Amino acid sequence: MFDPLDLYEVAEANVEETLTFVESNSVGAPEYYENKIDDDSPIDILDLPSIRYAPENVVLCVLRLLRPNTQVNFHADTEGVVSIDSIRKQKEISENVMDEVINWYGPNARLNTVEKIFTKIPSNSLSKDTLLSYYTSVLKHFTDNKDIVKEVTLRISENCGRNAMPSTYREFQINNLKKIVKLFEPSLTNDNLGWKTWGSSLILSNILCDRIDENFLKSFNGKRILELGSGTGLVGISVASKLEEIGVLDEYEIYLTDLPEIVTNLEKNISINQLANRVVSDVLDWTNPESFVSNYGDTRFDVLLISDPIYSSKHPQWVVNMIDNFLSQDNHQARCYLQIPIRDKFANERENLKKLLVDKNFEVVKEMYSKGFDDWGEVKYYYRELKRKSD
Ligand SMILES: C[S@@+](CC[C@H](N)C(=O)[O-])C[C@H]1O[C@@H](n2cnc3c(N)ncnc32)[C@H](O)[C@@H]1O
Repeated sequence: MFDPLDLYEVAEANVEETLTFVESNSVGAPEYYENKIDDDSPIDILDLPSIRYAPENVVLCVLRLLRPNTQVNFHADTEGVVSIDSIRKQKEISENVMDEVINWYGPNARLNTVEKIFTKIPSNSLSKDTLLSYYTSVLKHFTDNKDIVKEVTLRISENCGRNAMPSTYREFQINNLKKIVKLFEPSLTNDNLGWKTWGSSLILSNILCDRIDENFLKSFNGKRILELGSGTGLVGISVASKLEEIGVLDEYEIYLTDLPEIVTNLEKNISINQLANRVVSDVLDWTNPESFVSNYGDTRFDVLLISDPIYSSKHPQWVVNMIDNFLSQDNHQARCYLQIPIRDKFANERENLKKLLVDKNFEVVKEMYSKGFDDWGEVKYYYRELKRKSD
């Protein structure tokens, strides 16, 4: 399994090497199975429109049907879309084009009803290699049709792993939170790791939203919350949404922060989740926090939130400096909630983080280990709740 931060390099997708699609010589839609398709049987490559003979609109429609569903909690959402009409709208297919597609397949095809076309084509029964082969053939054949070129290049890049994926929306269902958190992620580049939501942030959001109730909130004895390295904002947005659900959000000051190139997208996600003007998002660079400090004056917080901040040898020191700078010294109930993925490559950095926290007189109040998911599969994490040691 490949976690991009294990290598901290973006692998280039190689679509050149895909097989060439073997063209069917059928003029109409495939009839190979004499109209026998039971509801459970998967489609195969011959059920996709013939590149040579199918009208452009039919190919475009099928490419849109092959568009992946929105991801929920790092898995494709297979339950959300139910009706043909909702698939049609979600995949931006007009009724006229839908009719064209049904007519082209015709009554004798395996896929001879709108239900079969719309539910079978997006299925996972076609292998990645088969699809890539089909897509590269489509790309070669329809070079003059801008809509097809755009759609098929998106399908190719989606098949090349998260690092090559185009921008996307993801949804998150957080424990004990009614609202679905929706996040925009620009396509990922090596420098902008905060444009992806990392599995760590889902676990920390679940832990916090599971615990947040009025008693838990009272235990902090303060109402200022700061997230460091928010990325796309899942943790801060989930916590703010939970406070909103309880009806106390306006009593809290919440700051979501990251590097300048990440903050614009963070702001967008705060707006998408109807939290604009209710939480602050701004730049807080761990190597140079002065601008944040001079903008906001009172820089001590009762709660710090940090998810997945360690992927270079410098990060442990910077992160510990930030915890020491920003966690309140006066409030003995102040807490830092830290979630860390256990990546083999960064064992030394995790050890160093632990040591530096002890050196600065922080103690672990609670610790948990768990398994979760990210785009490439299962990942192990630890969670630590930290406080300053009382003298
Ligand atoms: C692996 S991402 C995790 C993002 C988010 N917390 C999550 O879990 O989805 C690490 C985050 O730390 C931020 N970061 C790295 N170096 C930073 C620095 N010097 N100052 C502020 N943020 C930084 C990155 O921009 C990125 O958003």
